Amino acid sequence: MIPYGRQNITPEDLESVRSVLTCDYLTQGPKISEFEDSLAKKMGSRFAVVFNSGTAALHAAYFSLGISVGDEVITSPITFAATSNAALYLGAKPVFGDVDPKTGNLDLETLEGLITPHTKVLTPVHYAGLPVDMERIHAIAKKYHLKVVEDACHAIGSSFSENATGSCQYSDLTIFSFHPVKHITTGEGGAVLTNNEDLYNQMILFRSHGITRDHFDHEPDGPWYYEMQALGYNYRMTDIQAALGISQLSRLDANVKRRREIAALYTHLFEENPYFDVQSQPQKSLSSYHLFPLLLRSEMAPHKKNLFLKLKEKGIGCQVHYLPVPAQPYYQKLGYSPHSHPHAMAFYRSEISIPMFPELSEQQVHFVSVTVLNLCQTILG
Ligand SMILES: Cc1ncc(COP(=O)(O)O)c(C=O)c1O
Repeated sequence: MIPYGRQNITPEDLESVRSVLTCDYLTQGPKISEFEDSLAKKMGSRFAVVFNSGTAALHAAYFSLGISVGDEVITSPITFAATSNAALYLGAKPVFGDVDPKTGNLDLETLEGLITPHTKVLTPVHYAGLPVDMERIHAIAKKYHLKVVEDACHAIGSSFSENATGSCQYSDLTIFSFHPVKHITTGEGGAVLTNNEDLYNQMILFRSHGITRDHFDHEPDGPWYYEMQALGYNYRMTDIQAALGISQLSRLDANVKRRREIAALYTHLFEENPYFDVQSQPQKSLSSYHLFPLLLRSEMAPHKKNLFLKLKEKGIGCQVHYLPVPAQPYYQKLGYSPHSHPHAMAFYRSEISIPMFPELSEQQVHFVSVTVLNLCQTILG
């Protein structure tokens, strides 16, 4: 079976992890800041803070901005639930826009209409690795005095207007995930990048129970002294994970380059087919292709389930990204309705992600493409 996404582990990764296992620190050791420094340097931001998941990173990002009960966070309905769940954790209210049918990214035309006096944050999601128009997001945020959190869990290695995602040129904070289907992995893991020292300090506190060993409120009564100053969590990444992350990060460029080659080949092989479109690539956005979504046209979309099952029979793994978050039962119980996001629902009905990972061979890309096209032809008769 060719999966839709897959991690890539090399002998160097194994050696990096092995070397930590025989050191003094399995957690809270030097590999954490080494990984953070490498991430910040690579992306061109001042700071990086690593976490034990992208979800924890989102939670910490919103915490650092002081998001709380009554605040509103505007985001995309075409995302993984964690983007908006992290706002709910803090008592804030996620507000979902709609999406551009050609990209699956937040529709910026209707975004301003969602802003209220309670809006605090805009959280664009770079769907499938394709950056949202960050110049426009930045301009809207500036006009309404809002903060910007980029959910770049799909999009490490991408850029907008030649600015690396994670450089935070247009945002306050940028989130990455290191889950195994993502470009680089630490098993589970995530990071927040920022250029803001106050936000950085808040996230360091939040990651470890709200406890600090410097910057005290009270006079220390001994060298053992520490203070808990906020209600934080244990969201720490281990040194074992960080060692894997450091080794993986060294291959990010090669990984993204290969994904772009695969995307170019798919795009070429699917040119002018009558069954589906591929995701549009706006000029200033350079995708790092976490996913390769196909957007089935109206005659084909009702047959998506059949196509999905037939592809599986042929040994080709696919996935659908995503059932819009407001359509999830939990969100419907909170009063959200999928009907308020017609483009997102149409996107869900038409989308199917085909295999995309660096180790896919040219032969496999041809096999997947020919199989998809033949199946579409057979299904439509
Ligand atoms: C867009 C998006 N945001 C957030 C997350 C959460 O990341 P993690 O799984 O590392 O907690 C994911 C993970 O799939 C994601 O795809």
